[in-house]
Amino acid sequence: KKHKIAVIVGSLRKESFNLKTAKELMAMAPESLSLELLDISGLPMFNEDLEATPPKEWVALREKIRAADGLLFATPEYNRSVPGVLKNAIDVGSRPYGENSWDGKPAAIVSVSIGAISGFGANHHLRQSLTFVNVPAMAQPEAYIGNAADLFDADGKLINDSTKDFLKSFMVAFEKWVETHVSQ
Ligand code: FNR
Repeated sequence: KKHKIAVIVGSLRKESFNLKTAKELMAMAPESLSLELLDISGLPMFNEDLEATPPKEWVALREKIRAADGLLFATPEYNRSVPGVLKNAIDVGSRPYGENSWDGKPAAIVSVSIGAISGFGANHHLRQSLTFVNVPAMAQPEAYIGNAADLFDADGKLINDSTKDFLKSFMVAFEKWVETHVSQ
């Protein structure tokens, strides 16, 4: 059986290293996982006043999250935390109160940065929010991809073999993580 995985990228730019990494992860994923990018680019900012008549983008996002068996996050680090666009998506998906669409979905997190600290701050701030919305995020292996500007060629393909091998093993571990939670 194919498990549906929603892939959520915390950067909106076309040449995003996180998007490139997400595409590599999608291409190398084990057979049992079917991955699809979830678009969070046009999501209106969360405002509880709009909850009575929610924007159609919120409703669509919540439905797509609900339809997924698992979640794969690729996030940059902005000022040592997650980009606002990603936090907004988490907030939108968590509401209205009592209808948290993230509830119980197994997740994995990859942080990708052009710096050497590899998005550690964003990776762990994301874990803090995911804990509250009841998303079990795989603890190990952790995925911190640093110095990202050196890892891709002009076509956006990953050219670093050890990173490739690591990401492959990461996806195998994620497959097991999803199996464990979906079969319950
Ligand atoms: C950054 N960047 C950054 N990098 C980092 O390692 N730690 C940080 O705290 C920040 N802060 C930060 C803030 C803002 C507003 C921007 C625009 C950028 C640099 C960041 O790693 C770089 O722009 C990446 O290329 C972003 O990921 P994408 O867009 O390539 O996926």
